[in-house]
Amino acid sequence: MELYDVMRTTFAAREFTDDPLPDDTLFKILDHARFAPSGGNRQGWRVLVVRDRATREALAALTVPAAKRYMAQVQAGENPWNTIDPTRVDAGTIERTLVPVRMTEPVLRAAVVLLLCVDLKVVASTDQDLDRVGVVSGASIYPFAWSMLLAARHEGFGGTITTLAVAQEPKLRELLGIPRHVAVCAIMPLGRPVKQLKKLKRKTVPEFTMLERWGGQPLTATTR
Ligand SMILES: Cc1cc2nc3c(=O)[nH]c(=O)nc-3n(C[C@H](O)[C@H](O)[C@H](O)COP(=O)(O)O)c2cc1C
Repeated sequence: MELYDVMRTTFAAREFTDDPLPDDTLFKILDHARFAPSGGNRQGWRVLVVRDRATREALAALTVPAAKRYMAQVQAGENPWNTIDPTRVDAGTIERTLVPVRMTEPVLRAAVVLLLCVDLKVVASTDQDLDRVGVVSGASIYPFAWSMLLAARHEGFGGTITTLAVAQEPKLRELLGIPRHVAVCAIMPLGRPVKQLKKLKRKTVPEFTMLERWGGQPLTATTR
């Protein structure tokens, strides 16, 4: 596929056919994704390839607590799990909130499930002393995750970066033997999408750009 087509049509695939994703195709996807950038080129990514049914069921179950809070906050008009505005949703409401199957089913239905991890011993987390949630560490792993999805798209497959189960990281560690210095970054179901979305909803460039400083004029196609 042409690069720009891949970039504009790689969507979050959550429904999959029964087609397998053979190991040689998965290998090919990873073999291209490994050229992603990481801080200092230290390539701290580690990938667990999960096909086992019991493990998938455990992953689906570990998604539920965070998904309940996510949905409860959405229903209350909040931006779920953000670290800036405290939630007004109480624990009882969260506990009673139902989780849509699209949040738990993909790991059960996908041809394969990947756990993307990063070895924190090799990540320069330059925002670690700031008074806000860390985001820089993610930049050493999510380009790799995105490259995986682009390569999967190119091969006729698809998947999603999911992070809800990461809220249960201690249990993921226990389930899969992940050492303490390794963070779970995403759980990625991969398979053949039931349908291919072609038109993704995204903000336009002027909606998120500012010239020279915060609040500046947006960048338009005719700015300069
Ligand atoms: C950091 C990150 C975390 C995400 N976590 C989840 C998740 O836990 N569950 C899920 O179903 N989708 C998750 N997504 C997928 C987003 O919902 C999806 O990329 C977005 O809605 C755009 O979807 P589209 O490409 O199909 O338009 C996540 C995406 C990113 C980048």
